[in-house]
Amino acid sequence: MHYHMSRLSIAALALSLGLTLALASGQAPSLRTLANERGLLMGGAISSELFNADNPDEAATVNREYNAVVAENAMKMRAIANSPNPGNYLFATADAMVASAQKNGQTVRGHTLVWHDSAPAWIYEIKEKAAMRVAMTQYITTVVRHFGDRINIWDVVNEAISDGPGNPLRNNNPFAVAGPDFIALAFRTAHAANPAARLYYNDYGVEGLNGKSDAMYALVKGLLEGGVPINGVGFQAHLDTNFSVGDSGMQANLQRFRNLGLEVQLTEVDVQMVGNGSEKEKLARQAQVYGELLSTCLAVKCSAFMMWGVSDWTSWRAGGKPLIFDDGYAKKPAYGALIRVLQMAGK
Ligand code: G3I
Repeated sequence: MHYHMSRLSIAALALSLGLTLALASGQAPSLRTLANERGLLMGGAISSELFNADNPDEAATVNREYNAVVAENAMKMRAIANSPNPGNYLFATADAMVASAQKNGQTVRGHTLVWHDSAPAWIYEIKEKAAMRVAMTQYITTVVRHFGDRINIWDVVNEAISDGPGNPLRNNNPFAVAGPDFIALAFRTAHAANPAARLYYNDYGVEGLNGKSDAMYALVKGLLEGGVPINGVGFQAHLDTNFSVGDSGMQANLQRFRNLGLEVQLTEVDVQMVGNGSEKEKLARQAQVYGELLSTCLAVKCSAFMMWGVSDWTSWRAGGKPLIFDDGYAKKPAYGALIRVLQMAGK
């Protein structure tokens, strides 16, 4: 009897030791593993921090958790074509990021070809329609061909819709000099340069049902009806903890774009912590919003959930601590919320 008990205890001990070892050896699934199993792109924006030898946590976190990356700034026109000579292209930083992604088996989203912001000075000086069409065509063709099949998803046009009343196209867009069809021109040019690429229109403030998302719906529907090669819509989702996924009508909004036959991606998710309450309460609320964003994304069969950065301290709005890793790269409650939603979603 005594002998039998001991054998049981040894078995129990071995079992619990095995479990402990499994946890200690990091066998908890990563976002990346769970996303891979579900065919979802899960990742975020990367900056030069990725190559900062003083901060190896950035690269370790990106490569452990992300199966997809996007350059926070390195593929913007001001980064690639900043030379006063429009014929000069600077690809070194962007190429290094793509090489890192390839080495680590990550998909790259290209961001972004036509944006009123972060363009070089010489673009704002072009005032003549034909010259702008030439500049746009040359730039888009050169960049899309340069990356070739290394980048098969492009934000072709970013943030073209105004926040103002009626949400027309914004009037401070230098590319609009090319004519009222400048958006169509951008998509057709990108398609010609890489027919295999999935081409996106990307914007912010369009997550829920509202005037701006109505304007975006009308815009992309018009493009489709005109035979313009657009494949998807990117919803940036720069939000804060006051945002209510349910009240905003987000699922119905995303679904109406899916019903047009378009792909849908959340492209720049971050959720600033705002309002009163303890730090713990704010972290819990942030986790809730992250979880609801991902479940809504999955409910409409989105193809990507991309966050705008990695850790809070390198975020473009670090003060709001909007990401899922804290200043020291520890997992925040929002990280756990994403894991749980993926686990519950099944494969
Ligand atoms: O690299 C220069 C540096 O040489 C210079 O000394 C310094 C002085 O200002 O500026 C540096 O460039 C800054 C760049 O970030 C890199 O840090 C730019 O000024 C600054 O404007 C730029 O901000 C970026 C912003 O887009 C404008 O391009 C943010 O990092 C980036 O997070 C933000 O990302 C955008 C998305 O592309 C589109 N959707 C909204 C999102 C947030 O604004």
